[in-house]
Amino acid sequence: MTYNETHRPQFHFTAKENWINDPNGLVYCDGVWHMFFQHNPESTIWGNMTWGHAVSDDLLHWKQLEHALYPDEHGTMFSGSAVIDHDNTAGFGAGAMLLFYTAAGNYATPERPYTQCLAYSTDNGKTIHKYEDNPIIGNFDKGNRDPKVIWHEGSQQWIMALYLIDNEYCLLRSADAKSWERFQDLTLPGVTECPDFFPLEDDNGNERWIFWGAKGKYLVGSFDGNEFVPETEALTSEYGTNGYAAQTWSDTPDGRRIQISWMQGGLFPEMPFNLQMSIPVELSLVGSGSNVTMKRWPVSEFTSLQKQTTNPGMQNVTGRKPLTIETEAKLLDVTFSATRREEGVLYTSIRGQSMVLDWKANELRFKDHTIALDNSAAPEFRLLIDKASVEIFINGGMITGSFSFLPGAYEHPLVMHSDADQSVDIREVHELSSVW
Ligand code: FRU
Repeated sequence: MTYNETHRPQFHFTAKENWINDPNGLVYCDGVWHMFFQHNPESTIWGNMTWGHAVSDDLLHWKQLEHALYPDEHGTMFSGSAVIDHDNTAGFGAGAMLLFYTAAGNYATPERPYTQCLAYSTDNGKTIHKYEDNPIIGNFDKGNRDPKVIWHEGSQQWIMALYLIDNEYCLLRSADAKSWERFQDLTLPGVTECPDFFPLEDDNGNERWIFWGAKGKYLVGSFDGNEFVPETEALTSEYGTNGYAAQTWSDTPDGRRIQISWMQGGLFPEMPFNLQMSIPVELSLVGSGSNVTMKRWPVSEFTSLQKQTTNPGMQNVTGRKPLTIETEAKLLDVTFSATRREEGVLYTSIRGQSMVLDWKANELRFKDHTIALDNSAAPEFRLLIDKASVEIFINGGMITGSFSFLPGAYEHPLVMHSDADQSVDIREVHELSSVW
């Protein structure tokens, strides 16, 4: 397997072949980062949902293993999560990996509804056994799914966030990871599917809890094991068109909160695979009280892919003279800032696809999609450019957007145009190595 087909992403995860969607069962165990994922083993379109499985020792170089969970009498294998049971609460042994997933019986058939199930592994994910008394949670509402489990240190119990229906979610708790009590329902306006629930420290050193839904919107609040109390409105983290169903890793060795998203959508013509994951990002909180925002930034491991670096520095882009960045590379990690002007436009052509910075509107446009900017004097943009995507991180990750795209043919990788004098500081241009 060479992973070097024309449109194969070179530092984003794709399956060897066929369809993928949501990342599932993200867990770190004994030196190995596990990523399970929604997979159709038989086709490049959605269906036959099965958990694929890949492992990595640096979150970038992935090795795809045998599929982990196949459809059974309870249904096909929809999204879910994994944790390490350090204290043997479930009785499979201390350090067992517990995997929670939805068995998607049949949405419309009451006799075969969606239920939540458990599987476990006692050999770091090499062999996975389905629990014999599945399902562990019956059906509440038609489409309930996507269990995300975390150990809550304060109350010494497992907490599960579960999607119910419409914009409704619930929280459940358990001492043994097998019997669960539903104790709170919540609404995440405008959001459906794939919850995540985890703590982050704010600027005052306070532990805050994030309740997250598939579209990249989240609430920040407090949680004591009995009740999640939202302290913000629904905030947005993903401003692009393609980030969806993000999930964070359990049991990270250094306490980092690391997230990866499915890049929903995109075109991979004539490829043996369909769709990709985002680059893993580290999450942090900026601010405090109700004035708090989540930042996302590519994991520090990413710098190991930077193989050749230039620092062109301050440049002037004029109406007559475009600025061509000196590189022929197709895989790039580029950071630049642009000095704010009253009006006018800076175009950054990324392999023929124009990213438009419109000063008067104070917004960025990419692929007919608009991202509002803050009013910093010289906003800074970091672009991760792969064969079939651009991920944009603005002002240190305060605003982020994932975009899948198909590059234009034979275009120079990076050219800037402007209507009038525009000064830009091209801070870093890294050509990147492939992970395959
Ligand atoms: C989100 C989702 C989940 C579901 C899975 C099925 O993309 O619809 O809610 O579990 O995909 O593949």
